[in-house]
Amino acid sequence: MSSILRRSSDRDATAPPAPLGVALYGCGTVGSGLVQVLRARESLAGRVSLDLLHVVVRDIAKRRAVAHPDGVLSRALLPPIDDPRVQIVVELIGGIEPAHTLIVHALNSGKHVISANKAVIAAHGAELESLAAQNRVLFKYGAAVGGAIPILHALRGPLRHEPVRSIRGIVNGTTNYILTQMAEQGTSFEAALASAQAHGFAEPDPFADVSGLDAAQKIVILARHAFGRWVSLDDVELTGIDRVSADDIRAAHAEGASLKLVADARMDGDRIRMKVAPALVSPNDPLYAIRNEMNAIVIDTEFSGSLVFAGPGAGAHPAGSAVFSDIAAVARRVAGRRGS
Ligand SMILES: NC(=O)c1ccc[n+]([C@@H]2O[C@H](COP(=O)([O-])OP(=O)(O)OC[C@H]3O[C@@H](n4cnc5c(N)ncnc54)[C@H](OP(=O)(O)O)[C@@H]3O)[C@@H](O)[C@H]2O)c1
Repeated sequence: MSSILRRSSDRDATAPPAPLGVALYGCGTVGSGLVQVLRARESLAGRVSLDLLHVVVRDIAKRRAVAHPDGVLSRALLPPIDDPRVQIVVELIGGIEPAHTLIVHALNSGKHVISANKAVIAAHGAELESLAAQNRVLFKYGAAVGGAIPILHALRGPLRHEPVRSIRGIVNGTTNYILTQMAEQGTSFEAALASAQAHGFAEPDPFADVSGLDAAQKIVILARHAFGRWVSLDDVELTGIDRVSADDIRAAHAEGASLKLVADARMDGDRIRMKVAPALVSPNDPLYAIRNEMNAIVIDTEFSGSLVFAGPGAGAHPAGSAVFSDIAAVARRVAGRRGS
């Protein structure tokens, strides 16, 4: 077994420092991808190892992409957080409840929390960040926007002091796949959606994607990091792609442009204006070349000009890797505190 995933019982009592206990909630697409990324790593910066103590799911009898040692998988919602060995809670369930309840419980219990859940973060981000600060723990969610694209890391890190004028992008791979297929293959909206579902890009219930809600949740999170404050999801002007027709696609093509679902947030005086809508994108726009399930985000900054981030916005390994990056950051912080 890789050292990063040792069970406590396998541990060499003489090997300092003690591994960090992790409770993982959700072992679907991203959870399984995360476990595979964890198992592929031998050590975390050579300094600290992780102990995956609990994996909480809805149905423990389900066949899974990854197997777990006996006793790790359970349906118990709050008890794993109360396990004193657990220091890091990873929430990959999705949706508002029970995700919100368990994140609040974890933060109030002094556990670091990592989530990829844009729905709960767009709705409750201000409350959850404030709870994390009160409890002096970290709350990180780099995988919630852009999958593997380290856009939130860039905004929180190197770009922290850069005034941002606007941030816009293609942040929903499902809708971009549908629009690309309609434009390039001449397929109808319904056929392109069916193809997206067959490829595993779209959920069986595609409402959040095609209505633009998923992109709206992401632009709220991007705006928080670009402009430094939380805004309400209700303030996003929202138009999905469900009414886009083959005629619209042809009309865009006739104008030498491409139709994309673009999420946009910009400063307007003191106000942050946010919009998600199908938009004509011209060939000189970096978003023009973004095809199928790929994502891209363009930040217009005061001093550094226009910065473009692009890459896979979803998928087991890209998203799992982004979650791993947050776990590694927490582990480095904990190791630093131990060393100080
Ligand atoms: N898929 C992506 O590419 C991607 C990318 C970035 C971010 N995200 C975000 O990551 C999160 C997870 O997405 P996913 O695609 O991995 O979802 P998923 O495949 O549907 O997996 C969800 C997991 O959560 C478990 N679960 C659901 N409700 C539960 C409950 N009430 N109690 C305990 N466990 C429960 C499920 O258990 P069972 O397996 O037993 O059903 C499943 O293991 C979401 O917030 C999503 O927005 C996803």
